[in-house]
Amino acid sequence: MRFTLLDTTEFEAGSHDSSKASLAVFVDQNNQLLGSDASDSAEANTLQAVLDKDMLKKANGSTCLAPLLDSSLASHLLVIRATEADNPEQRQKLANATGKAVGALPGKVCYLDASHLVDLHAELPQLIVTAICKASYRFHEFKSVKKTVPSLEQVTLLQGAIDLSVALKRGEAIGRAVNLTRTLGNRPGNHCTPSHLADEALALAEGYSELSTEIREEAELKQMGMGAFLSVTAGTSEPAKLIELHYRGGSSKDKPLVLIGKGVTFDSGGISLKPGAGMDEMKFDMCGAATVFGVMQAVAELGLPLNVTGLIAAAENMPAGNATKPGDIVTSMSGKTIEILNTDAEGRLVLCDTLTYAQEMDPALMIDMATLTGACIVALGAHAQALYSNSDELADALLDAGTQMHDRAWRMPLWKDYTKQLESRFADYGNIGGSKAGSVTAACFLQEFVEGVDWAHLDIAGTAWLQGANKGATGRPVELLVRFLLDRAV
Ligand code: BES
Ligand code: MN
Ligand code: ZN
Repeated sequence: MRFTLLDTTEFEAGSHDSSKASLAVFVDQNNQLLGSDASDSAEANTLQAVLDKDMLKKANGSTCLAPLLDSSLASHLLVIRATEADNPEQRQKLANATGKAVGALPGKVCYLDASHLVDLHAELPQLIVTAICKASYRFHEFKSVKKTVPSLEQVTLLQGAIDLSVALKRGEAIGRAVNLTRTLGNRPGNHCTPSHLADEALALAEGYSELSTEIREEAELKQMGMGAFLSVTAGTSEPAKLIELHYRGGSSKDKPLVLIGKGVTFDSGGISLKPGAGMDEMKFDMCGAATVFGVMQAVAELGLPLNVTGLIAAAENMPAGNATKPGDIVTSMSGKTIEILNTDAEGRLVLCDTLTYAQEMDPALMIDMATLTGACIVALGAHAQALYSNSDELADALLDAGTQMHDRAWRMPLWKDYTKQLESRFADYGNIGGSKAGSVTAACFLQEFVEGVDWAHLDIAGTAWLQGANKGATGRPVELLVRFLLDRAV
């Protein structure tokens, strides 16, 4: 999808090819056009007919597509009801409905009259651009016949007195970031291995001068003492990778904001093997890592004046003769020992060493994203990701960013009462905390590897992908994180 900007006056001059073009306009609850008056009589008459015949429902985000006869502007008119944009949920609803309707348009080009959207809410143009990007997403890589290819190739935002170039740039960067995260998440485990993620990181860094990559191989991880990380990868022939993405857009004195992603490219459970039903979904166990990719791309695309480091703990969790066994004890990079009571609690093992390593970079803060526990899905379902943090300020900023983007998080406790559940008879910690509060005890485990740095953990097990007919990676929580970083960049 290509996006461009055009002044409404230039559009009305009508020098474009109208035969393959659609015009999308917004009307309010009183049937008033949110924009300049209809640009030609065909548009005015068609709009009037749509409204007179009640073809457009009253609800926010309702849409109606009508042919535009004898117009010099376009061949179709898409009318969208825009009534409410006071809260983020309504805004997202309107944006998503617009994205869906625009994405299904017949022609190659859509002119979208965004000239008065800011009257409803300042963020609407940006949200709509992101929503159009998201709606045009298809994952066709493994289909020999690519059906439902959208015909739309270009969206031109029509702007009036208010310049929409920043809205367009941000909206597109965020939309493309979400789609990158979805693509990496959707790729199957036999293609998307730790080595593949390393290649993708190198390719991403190629595109931006402020972005660089470093890949740490198993031998180096061993040298650094990452016994917890490497225990996960013992039973697979796919070598683990610690992938670093460094974006330097801030001053050299600015401490880096470190984003950490769980990149388990397939989680079979290891010797504590998972049951067979639905196990394919464990290809999504690298969605935290995919989120880091998306966010780093958006940050680089927008040239944010920040230093951001992405760390991806990439490993495959498989059973084998040489795999880690329940009861095995390993020493983490921090020196703390861990009794691996369940090899399926592997996310925290790759993350604890990555957290220890991240702290050597003297970060301003660390945020990790992980599809960490099934218990998180039990607690919060698919609507909110669980947020844990040792800093109220950081937690509030992340909660607020999530609320604003309607990519919501809900804060959970990190009380020491829960940490007690991680006691081990033989080592400093066990890697599981029993049947109660599984998402909390996993977070408490990670907290034991954080010392004196502001840190937040997002358990995205319930939000990172959808099941059922629309099965696939969602790209969450890219929007939350990009918003958080944009807020820090001012
Ligand atoms: N990747 C899973 C968590 C998961 C499961 C996410 C299902 C989404 C859907 C994680 O590695 C895991 O297996 N966690 C275990 C922890 C348990 C052994 C303490 C779990 O949740 O069952
Ligand atoms: Mn697991
Ligand atoms: Zn896992």
